[in-house]
Amino acid sequence: MSKLWGGRFTKQTNALVEQYTASIGFDQQLAEEDIQGSLAHVTMLDKCGIVPQEDVETIKDGLNRVLEKIRAGEVEYSVSDEDIHMNIEKNLIQEIGAVGGKLHTGRSRNDQVATDMHLYLRNRVIALTGMLHELQTSLIGQAKDNLDTIIPGYTHLQRAQPILFAHHLMAYVSMFQRDIDRLIDSYKRINVLPLGAGALAGTTFPIDRHFVAEQLGFDGVYENSLDAVSDRDFILEFLSDASIIMMHLSRLSEELVLWSSTEFNFVELDDAFCTGSSIMPQKKNPDVPELVRGKTGRVYGNLMGLLTVLKSLPLAYNKDMQEDKEGMFDTVATLEGALQLFAPMIATMKVNKGRMREAVNTDFSNATDIADFLVGKGLPFRQAHEVIGKTVLYCIQNGKFLLDLKLEEFQQFSPLFDDSIYEVLKPETVVDARNVYGGTASVQVQAAIGRAEETLSVS
Ligand code: ARG
Repeated sequence: MSKLWGGRFTKQTNALVEQYTASIGFDQQLAEEDIQGSLAHVTMLDKCGIVPQEDVETIKDGLNRVLEKIRAGEVEYSVSDEDIHMNIEKNLIQEIGAVGGKLHTGRSRNDQVATDMHLYLRNRVIALTGMLHELQTSLIGQAKDNLDTIIPGYTHLQRAQPILFAHHLMAYVSMFQRDIDRLIDSYKRINVLPLGAGALAGTTFPIDRHFVAEQLGFDGVYENSLDAVSDRDFILEFLSDASIIMMHLSRLSEELVLWSSTEFNFVELDDAFCTGSSIMPQKKNPDVPELVRGKTGRVYGNLMGLLTVLKSLPLAYNKDMQEDKEGMFDTVATLEGALQLFAPMIATMKVNKGRMREAVNTDFSNATDIADFLVGKGLPFRQAHEVIGKTVLYCIQNGKFLLDLKLEEFQQFSPLFDDSIYEVLKPETVVDARNVYGGTASVQVQAAIGRAEETLSVS
């Protein structure tokens, strides 16, 4: 059989042109969605009396047979049929004969491909939300096991104030919750039907777009036919959301890599999630977080790529828009790959509580609290800051930490110090003193975990 659009042509397509313009190599991923859309379209053609019922039955039957063959790997796609839409139509006509040619009545590949993309992304967004939930569950599990584990909290990667390790993990739970919320919000704009826009202007057939939308579970139809076939905002939005998710995963990755180093030694990733070195027998490398950090680049690249493809494109469809697919598929695969690994990797991570404790015991992250202690005794905060700065300097010069100082040593810096300072300086006291909503005090972190679990259970 020749090209589906061959009528107007007098020559064969140049073989290199066929190769260059074909998208079948990657858009075959849309086969299921393409057939789903066609089934709804043809059902509408019957309902609206555009194609006789018996022809519609034959077409539906044929589409289902083509779908089975695709699933069984029995369909050989051909580059000369350019894309998934024409490959499927060709296969349908081979299956049921010329009547298969009625499927494309009142439709264009322009509104067809857009519909496929909406169907595809709708499913992926739901799946990704579930994967983010899994990751949150792992993080919450670790947080619950670490409600009494204190680590130094950092600013500028310098030890700042002690915090619960659980509190640190719950920060990521909040970040991933925003990611989930963003994906759910984007669903509104994904779940809109372009079909019925035709090539660009609508169609002369008395179709019923709302009926198709209802059958496919779309919440509505595009208002404007030009916009329907040329809008790729929903893909851009997905790529933006994906970029932010990858950025979050990359920040967590960076921390895991740091924490796994001998220098930190805060956590140990399970052997099943690490790899070794071909030369250095002692090595256990955190390849997964490193690669997630690295792959964040390609997801950002996909977003920038599509933004650039779309800029300056005149309305309506342009072949440039075929470039929307590979970056989107790659982003979905990259994101799903990362999330699938992260949930079990976090769940099986060993937390080195002893080492964390040692870190907290050998730093000055309790310094703010003695400044606050002096403020409690009536000293203005700025003066208290100065006094403690000097006290810390004295400690550094004498190889001591604040808890090592005798009361007389404290009193050299201020007569306001008394015995109660030792209780104030304990890491537990310091942590629990931050008893504000969203703070690191154990009761607050427990409450935060409770709220996060509540959100997870209702979603
Ligand atoms: N493969 C094409 C794409 O992905 C389908 C739409 C083709 N439409 C056209 N008028 N050539 O964009």
